[in-house]
Amino acid sequence: MANRLRDRAAAVYGVARDNILVGNGSDELLGLIVRACVGAGDRVVFPYPTYSLYDTLITVQEGETVHVPYPADFSLPPGLAEARGRVTLVCHPNSPSGTPLTIGDIAALAQRVAGLLVVDEAYVDFADASALALVHQYENVIVLRTFSKSFSLAGMRIGLAFGAPAIIAELLKVKDSYNVTRLSIVAATAALDDYAWMQANVARIRSTRTRLIDALRNLGFAVLPSQANFVLARRPGQSAEDVYRGLKERGILVRYFATPELRDALRISVGTDAEVDALQEAMKETRET
Ligand SMILES: Cc1ncc(COP(=O)(O)O)c(C=O)c1O
Repeated sequence: MANRLRDRAAAVYGVARDNILVGNGSDELLGLIVRACVGAGDRVVFPYPTYSLYDTLITVQEGETVHVPYPADFSLPPGLAEARGRVTLVCHPNSPSGTPLTIGDIAALAQRVAGLLVVDEAYVDFADASALALVHQYENVIVLRTFSKSFSLAGMRIGLAFGAPAIIAELLKVKDSYNVTRLSIVAATAALDDYAWMQANVARIRSTRTRLIDALRNLGFAVLPSQANFVLARRPGQSAEDVYRGLKERGILVRYFATPELRDALRISVGTDAEVDALQEAMKETRET
C-alpha cells in the first residue's frame, strides 16, 4: 500500500492518505482508471491531440474513443461534456503543445461531465497553477502526478493519483497487490523530503524555457506559450521532417510526429542553456542547407 509514501505525500500536498493512490508511474494509474471504468463500447472523451497512451489504453478495453479537436490556441474546446464519456481526460499542461488550461475551465468541466474527470498533471510543476485543489470540491475529479518529470526520477516509476476516498478505494481493488517496489517508495519519499531540489530544478528549466522560446522565435518559428518542460514549434514554409532530420544528423534529437494534426510541428525538450545554444547553431545550419 506504500503507506509511508502516501503519508509523506499527504503532508506535502495537503490531503489525507485516503485521497492518494501510488502507481508504477502515472501510466499505470491511467491504465488502472481505464480498466476500472471502461468496458466494451464505453465512451472516453478527451481533447486532441494529446498524450498518445490514452488511445492505446481505451483500445485495449475495446472502449469508444471520442477526440474533441483543440482549437489552434489549445484552449479547452467545447463539446467535451456533451460527448458524455464514462471518463473525460485532460492533460494539463497538454502534451505535446505544452499549453495550460485555466483552473476555472477545468472546474466548470468537472461540474458538467457525466462521469469521471481525470486531469493528467504530469508536467504541472513547470506551470503556474494546478487543479489539485479540485479533488476537495468535486468527487468525480482525479488528478495525476508523476515523479518522472520535475523530480527527474522517471526510472523509479512512481506516480500519484489524488481523488475522493470513495474513488481511490475502488481503484485500489483493481491495483496489483505489489505494484511499486520498496526502493521506489524510498526514493519518492526522499524526493518529497527534498522538495526544494525539485523547485530549483523547475526554476532552472523555466528560465531556460524562456531562452529556448526566444531563440526559436528569432529563428522564425511560431511557438505556443508552453508551461511544460518542452515546446511545440512550427516554422511556416519549412517541412518539420526536414528540420528533424537535419538536427538528427548533427546529433540533436527532437520529436517529429507522423499524426496529421502535428505533421508540421516539432516538440523540443528544454534541456540546458548549452543545449539551447547548440540547437540554435544547428537550426541555423539546417536553414542554410
Ligand atoms: C502527459 C503524460 N502523462 C503521463 C506520463 C507517464 O509518466 P510516468 O508513467 O513516467 O509517470 C507521461 C510520460 O511521458 C506524459 O507525457
